[in-house]
Amino acid sequence: MTDVKHLYKSLKPKSYKIELGLDPDKLSFGGRVLISGILTSDSNEVTLHTADLKIRSAKINNFDVTTKTSKKEDELTLRSDLKFKSGKIDIEITYSGKINENMHGIYPSNFAHEGKNKILIGTQFESHHAREAFPCVDEPNAKATFDLSLTTPLENEVVANTPVKSEESSNNKKTTVFDTTPVMSTYLLAFVFGDMSYIEAETKNNVQVRAYATPENTEHTQFALDVAVKCLDFFDEYFEIPYPLDKCDLLALPDFAAGAMENWGCLTFRESALLVDEKNTSLGSKQWVALVVAHELAHQWFGNLVTMEWWTDLWLNEGFASWVEYLAVDELFPDWKMWEQFVTDDFMRGQGLDSLANSHPVEMSIGDPNEIRSIFDAISYNKGASIIRMLHAYMGPEDFRKGLAHYLDKHKYANAKTSDLWNALEDKSDKKIANFMTAWTSQTGFPVVKATFSDSKFELSQSRYLISPIELKKVKKSDTWPIPLDTNYSSESTLFDNEHGNWNIKTKQPTKLNSDQTGFYMVSYDSDSIKHFAGSVAKGKMNTLDRLGLLNDSFQLAKAAQGKTTDALKLLDSFDGESEGVVWDIMAGQLAALRATMETEELRELMKPYVAELVEPQLKRLGWDKNDSESHIDTLLRPTILSQASFTENRAVVKEALSRFSSMEKPEDQDPDIRGIVYATAVRELNDKATFDKLVKFYKNSSSAQEKVTLSSAITGFKHTDLIEKALSMIKSKDVRLQEVAYWIAYSFMNRHAKEQTWVWLKENWQWLEDKFGKDIMTIQSFPKYAGKVFSSKEFAAEFREFFDSVDTAGIERPIEQSLETILLLVDWKERD
Ligand code: BES
Ligand code: ZN
Repeated sequence: MTDVKHLYKSLKPKSYKIELGLDPDKLSFGGRVLISGILTSDSNEVTLHTADLKIRSAKINNFDVTTKTSKKEDELTLRSDLKFKSGKIDIEITYSGKINENMHGIYPSNFAHEGKNKILIGTQFESHHAREAFPCVDEPNAKATFDLSLTTPLENEVVANTPVKSEESSNNKKTTVFDTTPVMSTYLLAFVFGDMSYIEAETKNNVQVRAYATPENTEHTQFALDVAVKCLDFFDEYFEIPYPLDKCDLLALPDFAAGAMENWGCLTFRESALLVDEKNTSLGSKQWVALVVAHELAHQWFGNLVTMEWWTDLWLNEGFASWVEYLAVDELFPDWKMWEQFVTDDFMRGQGLDSLANSHPVEMSIGDPNEIRSIFDAISYNKGASIIRMLHAYMGPEDFRKGLAHYLDKHKYANAKTSDLWNALEDKSDKKIANFMTAWTSQTGFPVVKATFSDSKFELSQSRYLISPIELKKVKKSDTWPIPLDTNYSSESTLFDNEHGNWNIKTKQPTKLNSDQTGFYMVSYDSDSIKHFAGSVAKGKMNTLDRLGLLNDSFQLAKAAQGKTTDALKLLDSFDGESEGVVWDIMAGQLAALRATMETEELRELMKPYVAELVEPQLKRLGWDKNDSESHIDTLLRPTILSQASFTENRAVVKEALSRFSSMEKPEDQDPDIRGIVYATAVRELNDKATFDKLVKFYKNSSSAQEKVTLSSAITGFKHTDLIEKALSMIKSKDVRLQEVAYWIAYSFMNRHAKEQTWVWLKENWQWLEDKFGKDIMTIQSFPKYAGKVFSSKEFAAEFREFFDSVDTAGIERPIEQSLETILLLVDWKERD
């Protein structure tokens, strides 16, 4: 961790007045910022953050001052021979800057409408890119008010955090002045302008809610708008504080680096996270839209109203929003069974990353802001959300909610740290919250409980779970955690806080522990207990989340050499009647993990009859086409089943897929839920240039961001070397947006015939990737990770290390270590089993 200077210690801005003139044709802007604040001690110098701005002039308290910028530090120092007295200070700076396509700071989105090229200009300031738009103290605790005024082309729609106060036009330009914002952090300021339109609605508390998109896509914002209004109503009540602004806009931008961004009152999204078009949006994508909308709206309270003190507490923002998004969507759509999906998506993903020796604690010290992006990962988000779910269960829902409302009220328009949350919750609970939670946020990893059942009693021990046996051997003494032990099959519960212990649960037979996978831990049972549970699964006597947890733990323990792969497979046999989608996600995922280690075609062939038998009953039950009376969950399950059946080369499935593909003239001819399987099967079976060309034509003609993702998976799926090469060469072409590049690379690595070529491509184009995504650590770190997931040889590990030793990896050292660890543990698993 590098130490960083906090500018807020010397200068405390109270208000910013920002006047910007923007020229979308020249991709440039110029303006003036007035900062009023408090200087904390007498000084000749005042320092602000800036990046890539050209400073024209500066005054302090109306006197001209000299300016000096430091590129390395992103700093602008204003100097004078006279000392400025501590206390009130007024700074005025005029400057100009460039709008570039990096998707942070002020950046363009390009799109076509009625045959014409169009442009939207928008902003992305989190985590520390406000400094690319105006000189400021760009730190989350440096909260101030903002008065924004924008001069833009006359015909454009212009949106910012607050409502429009006034609008004036002259010379084909207009100047829009916005209401003063509440006291808030710089990273939450935002604006968007260009050719777009909207639909609108109102909440119960009369907040005006609008959903904006490019003209062609505006009709697809209805679903998101409905969800937004309902979520705002829900959060108004849940948090006991009404949404603090008069309006709330949600905007879909054609170019967007992350998934979405919670700018106060001016939420921005990538199109695939906001638009729902029944013809192109699969059910899974529709759920995703609901979750993202709920997530960003939750931040309006948790993040915007109360903000983390510093990036070290990022998990507070992101972990919490990732939990509460499920709470809201579950409230809106109870039959989607979102909490079951939480376990397969967030919980398992969090445990997945946290299984590595190279994981990190939830509370992660951050020095230099360039380290920030690397913690926007499965630990901050998924583990963060999972331990909040565990705490919610531990406290009970009503105490938890009251504590939260109290926390928000106590710290509103200010900042907070993790301990402030525990204190506020403790105020509303008789439980010791900090005592319970500290181990979960400060220690890396999570425990596995070894449980041996005899005479109505479990004998217990706990230690950190590490998936790599090589890493496990290095551990001398493991940490312990306070583990909430309970079961769905008896009413006792206890907190197991030692290395060893006993738990008398008074049942004759062993019971599955960790009811509904609420606790963030794994359980390793004795083999008699497992046999007993297998019987319960087969007889339909174990609930969905318990089945899923039991199966997943048993495969994860096998990978870690703490159990046998054959035992996990035997347990899987008892799942032959399984009909729940979430359990199938785990079954399919674990089978795919097994398959990924099989480098010979022979082995893969041998696996097919086993999988075929497992999917047969569900295939019969679900078939290809939706029927009106089926459940939401079954519609979600269908693609999983069909793709497993397609993998086993089920003749009827392959035939049907091929006939559907050949009759397609455009993507919309097939249901979006099964389109991916139709494509993938055609690609595998036909493997020819005509198929490739057809898919590329679909890609170029599609205006749906979701469909483009599906198509990129198909186009990168060929076996033929030339077609793999052609697909790779598309990545840098104008047909693929920068925001899609990561998908193309990920899918290409996932194609086992293409992974070697993709690795060569990655090495050859690393500099290009560095140029485009160098500052976007979240994207750039994903590339080594994609590679690390699909190779399992010692030779590759050496090559991987050698390559990343030879390039600049500042900020992505940890993901590289995580990837190496993954490769080596797969080598080990393969050799062992
Ligand atoms: N605050 C983040 C967006 C963000 C992430 C901005 C990293 C800058 C750097 C936002 O609230 C978020 O978490 N977005 C997620 C989607 C969410 C539903 C998990 C994303 O972008 O993936
Ligand atoms: Zn978030």
